[in-house]
Amino acid sequence: MALQTINPTQTAAWAKLQQHYNAIASTSMQDLFQADASRVEKFNLKWNDFLLDYSKNRINQETITLLLDLANQVGLKEAIASYFEGELINQTENRAVLHTALRAKESAVITVEGQNVMPEVYAVKNKIKAFTNEVVSGHRTGYTGKTFTDIVNIGIGGSDLGPAMAVEALQFYKNHLNVHFVSNVDGDHVNEIIKKINPETTLFVIVSKTFTTQETLTNSETIKEWFLKSAQQEDVAKHFVAVSTNLDKVTAFGINPDNVFPMWDWVGGRFSLWSAVGLSISLAIGFDNYDALLGGANEMDEHFKTADFDQNIPVTLALLSVWYNNFFGAESEALIPYTQYLQKLAPYLQQGTMESNGKSVGRDGSPVNYQTGTIIWGEPGTNSQHAFFQLIHQGTKIIPADFIGFVKPLYGDDNHHDKLMSNFFAQTEALLHGKTEAQVQAEFDQQGLSKEKAAALLPFKVFTGNKPTNTLLIQKLTPKSLGSLIAMYEHKIFVQGVIWNIFSFDQWGVELGKQLANSILDEINSKTVKNHDSSTSFLLNHFLKNK
Ligand code: F6P
Repeated sequence: MALQTINPTQTAAWAKLQQHYNAIASTSMQDLFQADASRVEKFNLKWNDFLLDYSKNRINQETITLLLDLANQVGLKEAIASYFEGELINQTENRAVLHTALRAKESAVITVEGQNVMPEVYAVKNKIKAFTNEVVSGHRTGYTGKTFTDIVNIGIGGSDLGPAMAVEALQFYKNHLNVHFVSNVDGDHVNEIIKKINPETTLFVIVSKTFTTQETLTNSETIKEWFLKSAQQEDVAKHFVAVSTNLDKVTAFGINPDNVFPMWDWVGGRFSLWSAVGLSISLAIGFDNYDALLGGANEMDEHFKTADFDQNIPVTLALLSVWYNNFFGAESEALIPYTQYLQKLAPYLQQGTMESNGKSVGRDGSPVNYQTGTIIWGEPGTNSQHAFFQLIHQGTKIIPADFIGFVKPLYGDDNHHDKLMSNFFAQTEALLHGKTEAQVQAEFDQQGLSKEKAAALLPFKVFTGNKPTNTLLIQKLTPKSLGSLIAMYEHKIFVQGVIWNIFSFDQWGVELGKQLANSILDEINSKTVKNHDSSTSFLLNHFLKNK
């Protein structure tokens, strides 16, 4: 069944939310906490080893009730069923959206157009397992008989960001293999990687769903050319493997069909790390850890599918995000993990969120008359505190932020971890309470500051507070908890797309730039600038003259 087409602003819940917003917008969170000492009891969710405290939001019980009404009135329940059951909900590409099948149990039956996909999913998983074990154990060797020491993942977008983020996040669990990532068509990127590797001991994993992506094909050809300076053509089969849906193009590249890991068109690029696109993750941390990552995602899938909406973590996060995006006019959301391991989480979720929900046409084909996709950005704490937190604390914009922290550090260093986590707690507290004039004045009095100086300085030292945050406290960063965390955000993205009545699983907006780049490349090659606007012609002429 296709997703229903319901303009959210036409629902009764939306109208009530608008009235409710008008009534509550000037109420501060400080007052809400003051008025209800047990507020946090109402606004927290516990699931597995996740604790979500969403009490530091500009909401009351009525807000949640109305947001839940909105979820019901846009048909979220039916949409979730269609999503998990393999309906063709990616309507503009006529495809199912089934990354959840990739982490489902083997016994599950998930059909796409009448065919159970689980046997194929597990056949590929078993292939990943066998291949990983052979490479990690050293049974599979390079063309001179040496074991592999390095892996290079060649891909871009979803064929790079997921594996790169997960390998970075799980480096504590890593084995001896060095894993590198080449994505940008910038030749300096690939050349910097080439500098670090030895052709005899490096395995190249070319990841491209379509096997037509300019960046990935150019980088693969450059690397193959470099490889063939020391090896023979037939050695390519030993050192290059591919993950793709496009067997013909992969074979034409010289890759042995036995070394192709298939994927399916019902896996979107930005949700593909659960497929063989995650081969580099499996190679880096071993298959069992990779499988645990998938298991964690599967547990979150079950939670999302079965928990009542008022107990459902992804639904709650999505509704809060809609509340700020569409009623408070928030344009962006910050993502602040308090672990250096998650430094690539924000770039990863930028693709997930912004490629999915950066749409302005509703499911009925007409332009939407409300805001959609939020802008996602962020950096780990505490680094971000010393970079952009000033703006969140005292700037003019409302920036809801997710704080993600872990109870246990991986190396057990409590000295560092307690300092890290005291910052984690302090920041959301500071964002909630701010600092009043009276508090600032009391500090001045204590310092014995003159009346004139105090009066001049006071406005700059006041923090209004009332800045919304979600706090997600997870027991420990493990492959399993990372899997759950990523799946949580994937489902948040899905819920938002359903509410905003858009198609979250296509990405037509990235095509135009690709097409223009191809015709501009022809002009650069032939040194003839054709018809452009005056700015583009001016720039191209400057480039050609000075290159
Ligand atoms: O940026 C557009 C996009 O199609 C992404 O959705 C995808 O992740 C990326 O390009 C790479 O595509 P492919 O895996 O086909 O090389």
